[in-house]
Amino acid sequence: MVAAGSAGAERPIGIFDSGVGGLTVVRAIEELLPQEHLVYFGDTARAPYGPRSVQEVRRFAFEIMDLMAGHDVKMLVIACNAMTAAAYEEARDRYGVPVIGVIEPAVHSAVRATHNGKIGVLGTPVTIGSGEYQRALAATGRGVEVFCQPCPAFVELVEAGDLFSEELIGLAEGYLAPLMAADVDTLILGCTHYPLLKGVLHWVTKGDLELISSAEAVARDVYARLVSEGLLRRVAELGTRRFMVSGDPGQFRAVGSRFLPELREVEAVPWR
Ligand code: DGL
Repeated sequence: MVAAGSAGAERPIGIFDSGVGGLTVVRAIEELLPQEHLVYFGDTARAPYGPRSVQEVRRFAFEIMDLMAGHDVKMLVIACNAMTAAAYEEARDRYGVPVIGVIEPAVHSAVRATHNGKIGVLGTPVTIGSGEYQRALAATGRGVEVFCQPCPAFVELVEAGDLFSEELIGLAEGYLAPLMAADVDTLILGCTHYPLLKGVLHWVTKGDLELISSAEAVARDVYARLVSEGLLRRVAELGTRRFMVSGDPGQFRAVGSRFLPELREVEAVPWR
């Protein structure tokens, strides 16, 4: 076990993803926990993770969690489905701090939301290929039917700031057609970049499907764990925010500040 430093509620929460997608989780955590100090890392130099192997994503996840442990975080939030699929189980006992993933919260929200028991999952190729959503949905024991769809092109478009092009709409129509033909009534956005595509996804599905993003459920889990572990920061003033990326800070700020306006300073922390 790698000790993560001194105890105490004043330490920051560490949140990380391959890029801007994890900011959707930051936004939800800020809504419930504005007083918490947050440290964010986006591995933009190595994004997208989607086409990589589970082994490689696992290695990246532990490199980032080691980096976060160096910032004396009191909790690790894996704001990435690919890294949750590849490393969550192993990470849970390794850092001496609570570790929160994004797959279980999305699964529980989806099972609660579905009326016809048919759930679609959109994700990156590595997440869908890992089988973790299929396993977690089966483990609920609710007998739901699961239809998974890898969406290999979405993350790169979002990282480039494209949330509305004709190309994007065409891709969304292609990815969603088999799920709509299967009559799913609930769609898990199994990548933290995809809530940024809710506009196009609602448009293509004609508003007929319940879109499940894990961000809000993850924020509720974070709140509950902070309380149960005695780590909640109980002060009235806003917490500090620190954003770091392994790639170009300007590109990250340009895209991320469109939905997280407080995102101004971004530090470059290149891998050596
Ligand atoms: N936001 C990451 C996820 O939730 C995207 C992974 C990628 O970079 O492809 O899976």
